[in-house]
Amino acid sequence: MSLYNKIFAHIYDPFMAAAERKVLGRWRRELIGPLQGKILEVGAGTGVNFPYYSKEAEVLAIDPSEEMLAFAKRKLERENFPARIEVQALGIGDASLDEQIAPHSLDAIVSTLVLCTIPDPKAAFERFHQWLKPDGKLLALEHIHGEKPLRRKVEQLLTPVWKVLAEGCHLNRDTDRYLREAGFRPLSEKYFHLGLRWYAAELQPMPGEA
Ligand SMILES: C[S@@+](CC[C@H](N)C(=O)[O-])C[C@H]1O[C@@H](n2cnc3c(N)ncnc32)[C@H](O)[C@@H]1O
Repeated sequence: MSLYNKIFAHIYDPFMAAAERKVLGRWRRELIGPLQGKILEVGAGTGVNFPYYSKEAEVLAIDPSEEMLAFAKRKLERENFPARIEVQALGIGDASLDEQIAPHSLDAIVSTLVLCTIPDPKAAFERFHQWLKPDGKLLALEHIHGEKPLRRKVEQLLTPVWKVLAEGCHLNRDTDRYLREAGFRPLSEKYFHLGLRWYAAELQPMPGEA
């Protein structure tokens, strides 16, 4: 892992703090608070979501970045979170993750600020279908591509540079549309603006998609 990975991990929480206080914290609480049962959190990063899980949640939190997970592990050691949370340094696509998660065994998958980053979201959606119970839920909180043509153009142009600065993050993903096209039906969804356009949704696999 590079020095830049370390720097990114160190600045992540302070960099996000104002947005968390202003809006994101509320959305995390609303989406994550009601979850119960077996949950996979993908791209858990520094463990920002950990305080929001209830004591009914049993969470496997994965992230391929050891640097980000070091902060998550420190939070687990220091805080007495209500949920049972285990962290593992794995990413979507790692074979050992596929081996650990039985088909249709998860009550929920949590993805916050991750579908902008992972290299192949469509491959991730296939795995989500494979892992979720038929009535399982996918909770997504993601920034997405803007709507207006000028904004889309600017985000398109900035993405190659932004990707390098922000550890693979894309500004130009229509994640809300990708999710629907991949066979996830929103049970509730909300769009809001916070510098970028954001999408917060509770989704369920459509029958026959698994
Ligand atoms: C912007 S951070 C979001 C962290 C956290 N989920 C949050 O809400 O603040 C994106 C995270 O996705 C992780 N990531 C990148 N590729 C991944 C993959 N293939 N599978 C799972 N996580 C991945 C990164 O290491 C990083 O920690």
